[in-house]
Amino acid sequence: MRGRDLLSIADLSPEELSHVLETARALKEGLREGGDEGLNETLRSAQGDSRRLLAGKTLALLFEKPSLRTRVSFDVGMRQLGGDCIYVSPAEVGLGTREPVEDVARVLSRYVDCIAVRTFAQETVEQLARWADVPVINALSEGEHPCQALADLLTILEHKGRLEGVSLAYIGDGNNVARSLALAAGMMGMEFRIASPEGYELDETTVSRAEELARGSGGRIVCVREAKEAAAGADVVYTDVWASMGQEEAATQRREAFAGYQVDAKLMSLAAPEAIFMHDLPAHRGEEVSAEVIEGAQSVVFDQAENRLHAQKGALALILGEESG
Ligand code: CP
Ligand code: NVA
Repeated sequence: MRGRDLLSIADLSPEELSHVLETARALKEGLREGGDEGLNETLRSAQGDSRRLLAGKTLALLFEKPSLRTRVSFDVGMRQLGGDCIYVSPAEVGLGTREPVEDVARVLSRYVDCIAVRTFAQETVEQLARWADVPVINALSEGEHPCQALADLLTILEHKGRLEGVSLAYIGDGNNVARSLALAAGMMGMEFRIASPEGYELDETTVSRAEELARGSGGRIVCVREAKEAAAGADVVYTDVWASMGQEEAATQRREAFAGYQVDAKLMSLAAPEAIFMHDLPAHRGEEVSAEVIEGAQSVVFDQAENRLHAQKGALALILGEESG
């Protein structure tokens, strides 16, 4: 994976995705134990001391939208691996306005070793990657949120002990988070069931790609209309906001369209008894999720948020580490 871009979660093969998760788990374990004792032998010999793994490397965070988790976890993750991070705000850069995307990509490539970009169109992320000489990571676009999917899988793995055969019910908008999750679930042999109101379904291209990946892994992709149909017997119930960043003007219309798609205690009671509740955050209590569910015993949303750090460290180690595979 060394030097590779991560624009879509499907840029990784299922083996590479597993490798990122294994690396993330080992780094997390090492961190917990205050050293690298948790790193298995393979990882230790491949990476040496994780605290110096990315020494001398700098990551640029080029963000055109707000962020708490992504921004802080990338910054802290780089520091924990011995590297540096620089945040560049849209007002300063003017991506595509003050300066063409091609020029921003080529200039940043002369200063930094990797660019994580959060922007609107997936095409901008792709354009940046085409022109950059350094790896580009999609830190959220309208198309996908691959770093979120990495953390989501790590969280499911920790709570369920496996990914293969795990059923995940995604309730709501067929958006960036849903797209990356559907593809990742397809790759890892999971059953991904999505329930969305009319007009807000997962797009056909993603469904076909996820189905294709699922055929190779023994997974399954199921699109339904009713939230309760998706939730029935599920091991994981997942939701995201009804109006994503950049859709604020459509928030009222979306609230109406998504009425009946709230994950509340009644919906959770249809899932498996040991089901967990997941949300990428930020959450809107009283809209896509009730306060009772997000604050309840089944909710793992803060484990999930923490795992952004570990999952991204796994990806950074493999993309930027000198001796990574
Ligand atoms: N889940 C997520 O990406 O959070 P931020 O928007 O705060 O980075
Ligand atoms: N779908 C949401 C995810 C936020 C992390 C958005 O794009 O705003």
